[in-house]
Parts: sequence; C-alpha cells; structure tokens
Amino acid sequence: MSFYIAGTGSVLPEKVVSNDDLAQFLDTSDEWIFTRTGIRRRHVLTGERLDDLAVAAAEQALSDAGVKGEEVDLILCATMRGDFYTPSLACTVGGAIGSHAPAFDVNAACVGVLYCMEIADSFIAAGKAETVLIVSAEAMSKLVDWTDRASCVLFGDGAGAMVVRKGEGRLSGVLRSDPSFAIHMPNLEGINSPYNQVPQEKLAMVMDGGEVYKFAVNAMGHRIEEACAAAGIAPADVDWYLPHQANVRIIDASLKKYRIPKERVLLNISECGNMSATSVMVLLDQYAKKGTFRRGDKLLFVAFGGGLTSGAVVSVWNRD
Ligand code: UT7
Repeated sequence: MSFYIAGTGSVLPEKVVSNDDLAQFLDTSDEWIFTRTGIRRRHVLTGERLDDLAVAAAEQALSDAGVKGEEVDLILCATMRGDFYTPSLACTVGGAIGSHAPAFDVNAACVGVLYCMEIADSFIAAGKAETVLIVSAEAMSKLVDWTDRASCVLFGDGAGAMVVRKGEGRLSGVLRSDPSFAIHMPNLEGINSPYNQVPQEKLAMVMDGGEVYKFAVNAMGHRIEEACAAAGIAPADVDWYLPHQANVRIIDASLKKYRIPKERVLLNISECGNMSATSVMVLLDQYAKKGTFRRGDKLLFVAFGGGLTSGAVVSVWNRD
C-alpha cells in the first residue's frame, strides 16, 4: 500500500517580471531568453514572505483534500532556503495549520518534491503515517546574482502543496545523486568566527549552464526509463508528463526518443520560469484545477537539479 494524491494547492507572488523588464537593466532580450528557454515571464517576491506563500498553498491543498491540520501525520517541505534556517519552513507551516506532526525541510534542489514523495511513501509503508502534507516553496529571486544574465533570467518564485494519503496511487519512484558543483551556492553569510580561515565566497548561485544542460537531458531520460520499468509500463503508456520546468529545450530533448505527443507534456515555464522544487508542484496544481486529469490517468513527475540530483515518480490519479 502506498499513497495517492488527495489534494493540491499553489500560490505565486503578485509581481510579474517580463523578459522585457529584465532587458531594462541586463544585456539581454525577450528573443534570447524565449528562444533559448521558453520563458516569457516569472513571478517574483516583493513584500511577501515565503512562509506566508507556503502556508497559503498548504491550506489550499488541505481544503482540496478535505483534511484538517490536526489529521496530518507528517509535514515535509521541499526548499533550498526558507525565510529562516530555523525554524524550518515545514515547522512554520505546521504551526499555522494547527499541527504538531513531525516536520522538516528537504533540500534536493529542483528534485525536492520528488524526494519528499518518496519519503512520504516510506513513512506510509512503515506504518508511521497515513496522511502527509508536502509543501514546496522557493525564493529563487533571493538566491541568484541579478548581475549574471546567464542565470538570473531563468528563475521565478512560488509555493505549492499536495496532500498524499495512504492508498493506491504511486506505482514507482527512483531518486539519484551525482555529486557536482555545476550549480552551487556558498552559504557563509554571517560567519564571524575569529577562528574561521575559509575565505568568503560570492553568496549567490553560480551555475555552469552548459554542463547542467547535458546532465539534465541524460538524467531525465534515464529516470523516465527507470521509473517506467519499475512501474511495469512503457514511457508511451504515461498519460501526463510533469517535467521540471527548467528549459523547454531540455524537456523536448529528454522526451524526444519516446515520441510523446506534445499535448501530454505539461508546461508552465513560459509564465513562471524555473521555480526549482516548486515547479512540478505548481504545474500539478494548475492542471488539476483545469480538470486535466481523469481517474486512472498515469502521471509521471521527472526532475533534475543542483546536487546534482535527479528523480522520477509515477503515480495514478485517483480522484474524480
Ligand atoms: O533547475 C536547474 C537550473 N539550471 C538549468 O536548467 C540550466 C541548464 N542550462 C540551460 O538552460 C542553458 O545552458 C542556458 C539557457 C543557461 C544557456 O543557453 P545556451 O544555449 O547553452 O547558451 P550559452 O551558455 O552557450 O551562451 C550563448 C551566448 C553566450 O555569448 P557568447 O559567448 O556566445 O558571445 C552568452 O554570454 O549567449 C550569451 N548569454 C546571453 N545573451 C543574452 C547568456 N545569457 C544571456 C542572456 N541574454 N540572458
């Protein structure tokens, strides 16, 4: 017995920044960004706090699932960095929804939600939880270097959530890490130890886009094959692909050999950019709200990210 997805939610910051807006202060253009990535605009935090977005997304998912905060047995939050190192975002969400369940953040960069789904599956399989709240929230605008046109144009902010409950749904999940500094972000701010001898590095994200691109196409393809094999299906049997929204060219290249019709590959990258862990969560919620999924449909989540991490999860949509 594994889990099924019982409810979803998502919240985006109000401020929308277009590629043309970025071209006001960066040497870039809408044409370059759109043709290289598929991104037109992204949502960016201004006055909002990330934990407020996370709580709002969690409340939506709980309400959608018809679950009360006190019924949640475990809270997981996929994020690279919340508003505070401690309390974790998961604890803050727990406090806001009236839960005293164990709560912790998971940093697997853009694959965070898939890691959380697999942790939820393990807790449920071990009999330690029946209802798990998975939240994702990323403030990418606070992590990137806004003078680095090769990376800052790619990202956006947002939060999402799903409630998963014990039952029939998840068919398989595969996770992997291939340690590399192709995407990295030093975390040394505030260090004033008189004993520290490590020189202060730039604090924003540093990324080797070309290396990440090659890794991504390869990793996404492999994870799709492994997750489908573990689920006993072929890639062509998947009804809906929910890929990490980093770059449409990466998505197209990694799915090319399976000849999946474009309509079955879900996208929101043009409007949201890359929201790291939150991308697949917001994608799920947006298409669930549109009524895209039918009971029995097979959904495949696939992602790659800093670490470098990668993973795929296959789950049957078990709702009307
Ligand atoms: O969640 C994971 C996050 N990371 C990723 O997904 C990154 C994966 N990588 C990519 O998506 C692509 O490698 C990029 C979109 C980052 C870059 O696309 P590319 O086709 O690999 O371009 P490039 O890095 O080869 O750069 C081509 C040119 C360079 O100029 P020169 O050296 O040819 O004169 C760059 O300096 O484009 C230049 N460039 C830009 N020009 C206008 C880089 N960024 C920009 C920009 N606007 N924003």
